[in-house]
Amino acid sequence: MSSGNAITAAIANVLELDTNGRDVEKSSSSAIPLMPIGEAADMGRSPDGTPLFDPRVFDSYEFARNPYPYYKILRDHYPVYHDTLHNCYWVTRYDDITTCYFDDEGFNTIPKGSSSGVLGNTQLELSGIEHKRRRNLYGQHLVGQALKNRLPSIERLAREMIDAWEAADEDWYVKNEDGTRTVELGKAFANEFPIRVVCEVLGFPQEARGQFYYWYNSMMSGLGGSDTHRQGLEARQDLEDYLEPIVRERRKQPTFLYGDDGKSIGKDIISKLCEEKIDGDYLSTEEITSNVALIVGGGGETTRGAIMNMWYLLLQHPEQFAQVMADEALWDNAFHETLRHSTPIGGQPRHNTYDVELHGVTIPAGSLVQMVDFSANHDDRIFENPEDFDIHRADLYSGKILRSGFRKEGRCSHMAFGVGPHLCPGAWISHQEAVLGSMVLAKHFKNPRINVERMKKDIDGKSLVPIGLISVRDLWIDFEVV
Ligand code: HEM
Repeated sequence: MSSGNAITAAIANVLELDTNGRDVEKSSSSAIPLMPIGEAADMGRSPDGTPLFDPRVFDSYEFARNPYPYYKILRDHYPVYHDTLHNCYWVTRYDDITTCYFDDEGFNTIPKGSSSGVLGNTQLELSGIEHKRRRNLYGQHLVGQALKNRLPSIERLAREMIDAWEAADEDWYVKNEDGTRTVELGKAFANEFPIRVVCEVLGFPQEARGQFYYWYNSMMSGLGGSDTHRQGLEARQDLEDYLEPIVRERRKQPTFLYGDDGKSIGKDIISKLCEEKIDGDYLSTEEITSNVALIVGGGGETTRGAIMNMWYLLLQHPEQFAQVMADEALWDNAFHETLRHSTPIGGQPRHNTYDVELHGVTIPAGSLVQMVDFSANHDDRIFENPEDFDIHRADLYSGKILRSGFRKEGRCSHMAFGVGPHLCPGAWISHQEAVLGSMVLAKHFKNPRINVERMKKDIDGKSLVPIGLISVRDLWIDFEVV
């Protein structure tokens, strides 16, 4: 779930060098050449003609910008690939990954350790009964009627941010001489909007929300054991110190969420966590902090990426964008197709409890097994022409998010929220954030188009960079004021 998972962390190391394709070409020591999008570099062939696979490709910039032809080689020829360089096994086919995710006993998340202590001991890193006990502590706040009651607030938060643009004196909002505007969608909206929504549901005090963004950013960049790890741990400790008196207070006096009509719609998540018990004991402040960190950590970067990728893809497919503008119901399709085509989360690590044989490969018990959601979403056994972005595709299930399944009416859902016991509990709220937030944005933009000049370019120096493995960071949009 988190951007600290092994797959994204490895890529982020490569991308730290990246400002645009040409700089990377200079600085990358990798022997892997940069290829036209959709084509894999030739890594050699065995005597029977089978393409060989060089695991050094995983560390290359080429792979980060153009991963799908490499995943296709793995799916077609090495569906379970033993990577002796990174000491793990990569599982790349949709059906195999879903089977493993549902088998929580055979493929557990212990010792996932993806957060290296920054988030703390969370449900994400537990399996079986331990996981189940923590899974339902606050989940009901993020779904069903409770979520429905929050929808007007989500819309209001989006409007508040967008309405503040005209008065903002920031470099991410440009008033052009001809009366048009240019906005960088990440800084102006997508980076912060999901955090604001989640802060409200948590019942995080308003006056500390500015500080909260600092803690959030520090914790996120401290994931994955990088040199910002210490700062991440300190931020987590600061957050816990801040929450200590609040937890004490709310144990005695819970606080409530209110709809925009002023009516109470139940306790906020922090108050709920204060009264929950596991095995007869109340959660400690440390455990409550871990939950807060996981909820915000799980919902911030991911939803940001979904909003950014969706707008990037739609604006590059103007006919489909026009259809969404003409029929708001199509935002749901656009959201799900974005998560299939370019999910913000690459995959999840698991450890196998027993020796497993899969496609003729024996995976010894206790191995690190990487489930590659990116690859499952582009498996042509499931999705036709998977590299195409098509909001009308007949093989993708784009209806109500399924809690317990992934196939309905002969269609498959994408793998972006995972499946099985760890299925993302924030899937429903992030869907609403991305869709409602985008509807509010769309009403504000007249004739929006990408300002190509301000965008990072691919290796030809002209084309827009493909999304690849890392979600869009900056998206400059020109528009006319409505
Ligand atoms: C587009 C947005 C999102 C994506 C792509 C996403 C993706 C995921 C994935 C793939 C997992 C499964 C991890 C695994 O199998 O080990 C997960 C778990 C989780 N997500 Fe999300 N997520 C998103 C939004 C959110 C939001 C908005 C929240 C909170 C409000 C959230 C909270 C969580 C939590 C708490 C878990 C752990 C569940 C468990 O281990 O039982 N996520 N997410």
